[in-house]
Parts: sequence; C-alpha cells; structure tokens
Amino acid sequence: MKFFVDTADTGEIAELAATGLLDGVTTNPSLVMKAGRPMKEVIAEICAITPGPVSAEVAATDYDGMIREARVLAAIADNVVIKLPITLDGLKACKTLTGEGRKTNLTLCFSANQALLAAKAGATYVSPFIGRLDDINLDGMELIREIRVIYDNYGFGTEVLAASIRTVNHVKDCALAGADVATIPPATLKALVRHPLTDKGLEAFLTDWAKTGQSIL
Ligand code: E4P
Repeated sequence: MKFFVDTADTGEIAELAATGLLDGVTTNPSLVMKAGRPMKEVIAEICAITPGPVSAEVAATDYDGMIREARVLAAIADNVVIKLPITLDGLKACKTLTGEGRKTNLTLCFSANQALLAAKAGATYVSPFIGRLDDINLDGMELIREIRVIYDNYGFGTEVLAASIRTVNHVKDCALAGADVATIPPATLKALVRHPLTDKGLEAFLTDWAKTGQSIL
C-alpha cells in the first residue's frame, strides 16, 4: 500500500519525504487555506520536494471552468494530479483529462456507485472519505471494501485512495481491505511507528549496552 500525506504544509512534507516512506501528497482547498499561502506556489514547492503524485484540487464546479483550471494546475509540474469532485461535470472533466493523458483524483466519494462512475470515467485515483462517513454513524471502511470488490470484479485500473483517515487503525484496516493508497495526516503517519513495547524494549537494550562499556565504532 502506498502512503500519501494529506497536507499542504511543506515543512511536514519535507520531513516525511526524508524518511523515504512517502509516495505522494494530497491537498484540498481547506488544507491550502490552513497553509495560508498562494495555492500555485505551495503546489510548486510540494512538487519540488517529492517526485510522487501531488493532488491539486480545482475550485470550479462547471466543466469548462474545471478544464481551464486543470490546465493551469497541470502546467505547474509533471507530477501534479488533477483533483476533481465526483459530480457529472467532474466526471466529464475526468474523461477529457484522462484522454489527454493527465492523472486525476476523483474526490468526495461517499458511495460505491460514485466510485464505479469514477472508474468508468478513467480516473487514476478515487478518494473515498472514511472519517466523514464514520462521523455520521456510517461505516467508512465498508465503503473501501465494497469499492475493492467492484474494481476487482471488472478489472478497473483506478486506484482506491483511502482518504479522510483519522486514526492509525484506519490505516491498518485500509491495508486489510486492499486499498491501493492511504492518504494520511502527518501526525497519524508519524504515529504508525509508535508502540510502548518498542520504547520500553529499546530503553532496556540501551541500558544493558551501556553496562557492557563497549562501542561498535
Ligand atoms: C484528501 O484527499 C481529502 O481531501 C482529505 O483526506 C479529507 O480529510 P478530512 O475529512 O479529514 O477533511
């Protein structure tokens, strides 16, 4: 499973990219607002930090506007992925952009049927939002499982990009459900490595090592 980081904070992205564990980045208008910087500048900087796919979302809601904005975003760098909402205009724009060889990420996916449409429109990625479904007492992970089955039934190449991830258990359950990618907030991504027994064990090993008086170097 690939790991994308879900942020427009270039400091966080640079730190995670340096670990070698980062496969890409997703942003959205809310994350750009949080970063408090001009979108095109932020996307260019992120694309320079990582060679992986970087999702940049259109703000237009009509087909013509989406295509115009997509062309501007795509010109920023080769690794820009055009993020489009799953609406009829978004699906139509997806079909056009896919035909031109551009990568797309169909976002705000809350149902298996929407994911089916995204695949039929040729999307590179579909982004089902787990946390926002959980927030309204629905089962976000069930949506991941449903999309996996549907895509496998028909051999769709669209990648399931699990989004709106809130917990480390979401990441594990996405991996078990066969999501191709998880886009994870920086704090949750960093929390994946943590375990109290790892900390305790390391502390004991270091204490014993100090008692040996040895040095490896
Ligand atoms: C990523 O592509 C999505 O925009 C993001 O994961 C949404 O997360 P949220 O529901 O925590 O805002």
